[in-house]
Amino acid sequence: MALWSGRFTENVSEFTQRFGASLPVDKALYAQDIAGSTAHANMLASCGVIASKDAQSIEGGLARIKERIEAGDFAFDINDEDIHMSVERALIADIGDAGARLHTGRSRNDQVATDTRLFAKQRCADLMAANVALRHALVEQAEAHPATIMPGYTHLQHAQPVLFSHHMLAYVWMLTRDFERLAAARRAADASPLGAAALAGTTYPLDRQMTADALGFASVIPNSLDAVSDRDFLLDLSYACSVSCMHLSRLCEEIVLWSSAEFDFIELSDAFSTGSSIMPQKKNPDFAELIRGKTGRVVGDLVALLVTMKALPLAYNKDLQEDKEGAIDAAKTLEDCLVCAAGMIATMQLKPENMRTQAKKGYLAATDVADYLAKKGMPFRSAHAVVGHLVLLCEQRGCDLDDLSLEDFQAESELFEADIVSSLDLDAIVAARTTIGGTAGSAVAEQMRQAKAALAADEAVI
Ligand code: ARG
Repeated sequence: MALWSGRFTENVSEFTQRFGASLPVDKALYAQDIAGSTAHANMLASCGVIASKDAQSIEGGLARIKERIEAGDFAFDINDEDIHMSVERALIADIGDAGARLHTGRSRNDQVATDTRLFAKQRCADLMAANVALRHALVEQAEAHPATIMPGYTHLQHAQPVLFSHHMLAYVWMLTRDFERLAAARRAADASPLGAAALAGTTYPLDRQMTADALGFASVIPNSLDAVSDRDFLLDLSYACSVSCMHLSRLCEEIVLWSSAEFDFIELSDAFSTGSSIMPQKKNPDFAELIRGKTGRVVGDLVALLVTMKALPLAYNKDLQEDKEGAIDAAKTLEDCLVCAAGMIATMQLKPENMRTQAKKGYLAATDVADYLAKKGMPFRSAHAVVGHLVLLCEQRGCDLDDLSLEDFQAESELFEADIVSSLDLDAIVAARTTIGGTAGSAVAEQMRQAKAALAADEAVI
């Protein structure tokens, strides 16, 4: 019989027992459950609700249960419904009446909210550490190739040349924002529901501040109904995971493209590639594809929780038991993706020559030629039309802009002078974009300084 079975005369069926149980999922929260119970017992003693010797005996018993779980020597029983019941039943079996006093002034409703918040805080910190490791890998690749030029794209068509390091830093900034989203999710989880009891508070003189302090919460949730029914913090975590995974999917899509024969910009390490069971020549970017694919499931976890929460009346409802599986999965999936992406980026080999060769194709100097004319007084829109004409000429001749003679240029506009030829040079085109956030080496160096400063600041708060 369940610990709550006093008013029941019949047992639930084996099926409904299994259907209603959350133990297979929430046993992952055993450490948080034991920490919460220990803090609660000590507070009960300090407030004179239970005897100190009972609190000591509870603390000792809980520590033994933790050891048994960690040694793999604790028999979880589905009849216990959830981790809270499992631990409490084992405690009572171990220490008797003292254990049966633990649940005084507490409900599983504030207990599960406490455990889940502690768990969410820890997972945010883990993800923040994995985020920082990937940013380091991106920064190191960028710094290893400070002068490598690649085509920059819009619509996946060659647009303007950019530094490879600039391209890598774009992802570093996305991840810098992801870190802040994870930090915000951690702040959202950082308030204690313990002491809210079932929904309305309790008649015992509990010290909620004391348990909040003991568990490292920044504050006490001021409304008992909100305390037991709020899952915004899990939505924040799931959203942070979704956005970060979406960013990884963009990075991984580029890795897939870059390692294709058509691009041939990078070679992935064998450790981050797989072969084909039928085609002996194949080297597939499976792990980049898999990270891209996992994004769907993480976003699914977010949507599932949002829909579970929609229209739930106050306060606790059993629907809330559905909150943990998706959030745990989203965090674990993102963590694995971050670790995998960091290894893949750190070990990929660049092919700078191929990048440069591609950057020369597709009239990437066209904007600069138009700028050349505009700087000599021609309205930019007219300059755009002149260069469009020159590109058409190149298309007809099957050549590139830097194959045209000075006469060809001057036939379109007498503003062209001999220096037009040097302004078509790839390095000059890149070096000219010196505004804040531009792709010139000097601007990228300043950007790198800022990205590393943000990295160091973030590392300090994990
Ligand atoms: N297993 C439950 C959950 O995960 C714990 C809280 C149960 N409370 C209740 N009144 N049935 O949400």
